[in-house]
Amino acid sequence: MSTLKMPASLPDPIINENAKIVLKRRYQRKDADGIVYESVKELFWRVASAIAEEEAKYDGSSYKPAKLAREFYDLMTTYRFLPNSPTLMNAGTDIGQLAACFVLPVADDIEGIFDAVKHAAMIHKSGGGTGFSFSRLRAKDSVVGSTGGVASGPLSFLKIFNCATEQIKQGGTRRGANMGILRVDHPDVMDFIKAKERDGELNNFNLSIGLTEQFMRAVEKKEDYDLVAPNSGEVVGQLNAREVFNILVNKAWESGDPGIVFLDRINRDNPTPKLGEIESTNPCGEQPLLPYEACNLGSINLGKCYLKGKNGHDSEIDWEELKRIVHLSVRFLDNVIDASVYPLDQITEMVGKNRKIGLGVMGWADLLYQLKISYNSQTAVDLAERVMKFVRDESRSASKLLAKERGEFPAYPESVFGEANLGPYRNATTTTIAPTGTLSIIAGCSSGVEPLFALSFVRNVMDNDKLVETNPFFEAAVKDADAYSAKLMEEIAKVGTIKKMDHLPEELRRVFVTAMDIEPIWHLKMQAAFQKFTDNAVSKTVNLPNSATKEEIWDIYWKAYEFGCKGVTVYRDGSKISQVLCTGDDK
Ligand code: CDP
Repeated sequence: MSTLKMPASLPDPIINENAKIVLKRRYQRKDADGIVYESVKELFWRVASAIAEEEAKYDGSSYKPAKLAREFYDLMTTYRFLPNSPTLMNAGTDIGQLAACFVLPVADDIEGIFDAVKHAAMIHKSGGGTGFSFSRLRAKDSVVGSTGGVASGPLSFLKIFNCATEQIKQGGTRRGANMGILRVDHPDVMDFIKAKERDGELNNFNLSIGLTEQFMRAVEKKEDYDLVAPNSGEVVGQLNAREVFNILVNKAWESGDPGIVFLDRINRDNPTPKLGEIESTNPCGEQPLLPYEACNLGSINLGKCYLKGKNGHDSEIDWEELKRIVHLSVRFLDNVIDASVYPLDQITEMVGKNRKIGLGVMGWADLLYQLKISYNSQTAVDLAERVMKFVRDESRSASKLLAKERGEFPAYPESVFGEANLGPYRNATTTTIAPTGTLSIIAGCSSGVEPLFALSFVRNVMDNDKLVETNPFFEAAVKDADAYSAKLMEEIAKVGTIKKMDHLPEELRRVFVTAMDIEPIWHLKMQAAFQKFTDNAVSKTVNLPNSATKEEIWDIYWKAYEFGCKGVTVYRDGSKISQVLCTGDDK
């Protein structure tokens, strides 16, 4: 608990109805009988004061902890910025583990495998999600030296990880989420691709195939490529790249599983290649990390950075305000690293070396609605680049400032920045775009950089609670257009979209588009635009109508590669949902 006293003048936060339920259920502190003893105001003060208190360690700081705590409190309670869930849940408590994202190595021996199972369990308990590369495990049926027997392969071990996860609730509130990645040149790749064919199988895992550029070139030329035994480096077989790619596309069409990640692209952005190669991401794919690395995330609500046009001027983005928020948020996230207690020494050491943080955005669709720009337009894509470039540049300049105050990240000299003399920075990465599954509910904004799923809908949150939501910007615009009626709202809630409502003004239908109204290519262009200026990766789903063909998915996968995305997730409406715990619906 922080020693900073809550000021008497601290305003009560305004909390939306959905947030009240979520906060009470998952975030406010409870006693041993499950009775909530912490108010929302106390919750945000607990977090603000615990994170601000870290400031006191640094003599060169430009802030006094008490003043900073107040600024952090205001930042969070006006929903301009929120840190990832583990920070909200655990800051200033005995658990003290504040990061959402971890990657653990899985070594090719029984001890190593079960170490990873144990470490994952410890991380899940503290509210974090884990990613693993299974690529180092020897293939099924290859010889085990110590026993003369045969190996059971990555897939059988994956089931053990899945089972262990099933039994452990994160911080006693939710089950852990995992990412499992296998390289496309692993001999067991076909089994891995089919691993989730049966419903419910491996339900605590997102699976992705790690594609290499060599593989993609073979796809283009319809050539065979080599399967390589990870333990011996020997070529043990070949597959036709185009056929494997087609199977991946078919799987995406059927169920969205497994996803794909582009390993070479990810490693081109690895800021510290001398510390190792990136082989996996966190569960939702937005955070590639080295083995034993962790990263804490935070998201700025762009919907709050809207400046209404006055005296005949157009509405625009409040760049000054955005800059202020970015600088405070970077300081917040850097302090989170110090405040966090990691469940393993190896993690403490790795995090200490790179000090990665992942500042991202949410409320993007809300901002576009306010600016009257349709999501599926070049104007929106261009603005996405401009906004994210601004966030990245400002976050880097904030990180530079912190480096002056408190020193650069220890691996800086051997990092790509150090070698190019670009820094020094306090953090090896500063930007990541998270799904913001729960954060967006708390802030009452659109999630991440996704379009709205529906203008008005009934949301199932957690067990059996049902929450009705209408987008406030839409409601206001309908009223402005003199088109509001209770009957109309009811109709919209049934279908979610106004695309086919010809009786509504054209301008409304142009601006207020939803996920399914947007052609898949615009989803992808938007992802690519944000990726261009994001150090880590972007969480985004390319939504497709049920009628989408396999050829269309082929095209999306290929373009994702060409556009420089780090991975791609598609979801065809009505196909089997097998995503792990990453939308508000699951929490
Ligand atoms: O909104 P919130 O901070 O709860 O999380 P998010 O932005 O939806 O997800 C960010 C990351 O948190 C994921 O990529 C996972 O690493 C982790 N996570 C998890 O471990 N378990 C969950 N049930 C949800 C998210």
